[in-house]
Amino acid sequence: MAPSTSSTCVMSVVAVLLLLFPVVPALSPSTQAVLAACKTFGGGSTYFDVQFCEEAIGSVAGGGASLDYRVFAGLAVGLLADNATSTEAKIDRLIRGGGGDVVKLTVGDDAALGWCLLSCRKLYGGIVESGPTCTAAVKAGKFGDATALLEKVAAAAKECEDGFRKGNVTSPLTAQDDDAYKLAKLGVALLRFA
Ligand SMILES: *[C@@H]1O[C@H](CO)[C@@H](O)[C@H](O)[C@H]1NC(C)=O
Ligand SMILES: *[C@@H]1O[C@H](CO)[C@@H](O)[C@H](O)[C@H]1NC(C)=O
Repeated sequence: MAPSTSSTCVMSVVAVLLLLFPVVPALSPSTQAVLAACKTFGGGSTYFDVQFCEEAIGSVAGGGASLDYRVFAGLAVGLLADNATSTEAKIDRLIRGGGGDVVKLTVGDDAALGWCLLSCRKLYGGIVESGPTCTAAVKAGKFGDATALLEKVAAAAKECEDGFRKGNVTSPLTAQDDDAYKLAKLGVALLRFA
């Protein structure tokens, strides 16, 4: 019975090897770096989760990215700037009544919505304006300055969203405000390790 024992043995070895080295695509170095960075604080953050962090940074980190908190913070700031720019354009379209979303800035609910949008337009104008300053601060290693700017961005995004709630109008910017808030907080979290 020796041969069968040994073939059983070989099969177990193969099984163990398969367990140790599962046949799944290996994570690329950059995916591993992003995951490592996001796991560092993502799970413990009350503002965003690991998945948000992974998707955000993973979408912009290059193939060869290695774990560098300063680089990742810069990526978050860049993503935030792109986000804010597109949100600004969306608000402009809403205010002008383009794109099928008609807003009349005159009567009733539409007036309240109009005022909220104008207030948000101002807030996002400030966010977009702070983008280059924030990027420069990260590059120069002035993490305190960058963090202060990002906290302002988070507060502005929250103020925009709160405006709709106070005005009793449905926010057309909930997703955008949420992304801007979380990206700003993600930048702050990354800078803490930079
Ligand atoms: C804004 O950020 C979110 C979260 O990272 C992302 O899913 C979305 O694609 C971004 N949008 C733009 C226009 O950059
Ligand atoms: C908003 O709606 C609530 C409940 O419908 C009402 O009590 C409140 O007075 C409203 N606030 C404004 C600012 O219209």
